[in-house]
Amino acid sequence: MDSPIAVIGGTGRVGRLVARQLLARGESVRVIGRSTQRARRHNPPLAQFFAADVRAPATVRTPLHGCSAVVYIVEPGTDDAGPDSPETTLHTGVRHVLDALLAASGSPHFVLVSQRHVTRRDHPMNAYGRMLDWRLAGEDAVRSSGLPYTVIRPGWLTDEPGHGHLHLEQGDVGDGRVARPHVADACVEALYSPAARGVTFEMRSEVGPGAGSPPWDELFTGLRADTPTAARAALA
Ligand SMILES: NC(=O)c1ccc[n+]([C@@H]2O[C@H](COP(=O)([O-])OP(=O)(O)OC[C@H]3O[C@@H](n4cnc5c(N)ncnc54)[C@H](OP(=O)(O)O)[C@@H]3O)[C@@H](O)[C@H]2O)c1
Repeated sequence: MDSPIAVIGGTGRVGRLVARQLLARGESVRVIGRSTQRARRHNPPLAQFFAADVRAPATVRTPLHGCSAVVYIVEPGTDDAGPDSPETTLHTGVRHVLDALLAASGSPHFVLVSQRHVTRRDHPMNAYGRMLDWRLAGEDAVRSSGLPYTVIRPGWLTDEPGHGHLHLEQGDVGDGRVARPHVADACVEALYSPAARGVTFEMRSEVGPGAGSPPWDELFTGLRADTPTAARAALA
């Protein structure tokens, strides 16, 4: 791509894999997170680190300026209310990033890592600061932003070295674990596949021996596009 790609949460366990893959493809990568120490520990020097907090809108404007794409992989707090509640990162933070992107020129692809179960309000995960409700609100903000987007809903994340066949699903009815490397691959591949634009999907990896690289274009092409939602005015 012609301009840098921002990985918000790029110091995290999935985010650092995304940043490395993008660098390996020759992209210019901006890693965004709060901890400089974490960036030093987990990111190669080639990744440009910007200390910023998605809860503080003024801090994200400079690192996002001029980016051709954004991958948002932020882990929420679990307090019921206050600065460490899921609302602040899963909804307000997403909106801060969208506002910064929409205020600048261009139309960057927004890849949002959400999670399975977001539409199931009675799931136990929603007991943590209404995490699922706020994730869904963040998804809706992205879907109605007018930007090209991909919403990825992983199930429970694992770090098992061998991960078998990957399944992409829709409708948020299933369950299952997914390997972090599969999620990172999906974030990166989505940026290069037109079929991954305007879709929301869940991910599940089969437990078993490594199955080689998934056929990404085929998987994305098999997805149903989201129903077009109201324009950005819906966010106001
Ligand atoms: N664990 C699961 O089973 C599971 C299941 C489904 C979905 N997910 C989601 O999958 C994603 C990836 O998970 P992971 O294991 O890679 O998470 P992780 O290792 O905990 O990384 C989270 C990243 O978020 C950044 N971050 C947190 N708060 C931030 C803020 N206010 N502003 C900017 N950056 C912030 C962290 O950096 P700093 O702390 O330095 O800011 C870090 O880079 C997360 O969104 C997670 O919620 C997880």
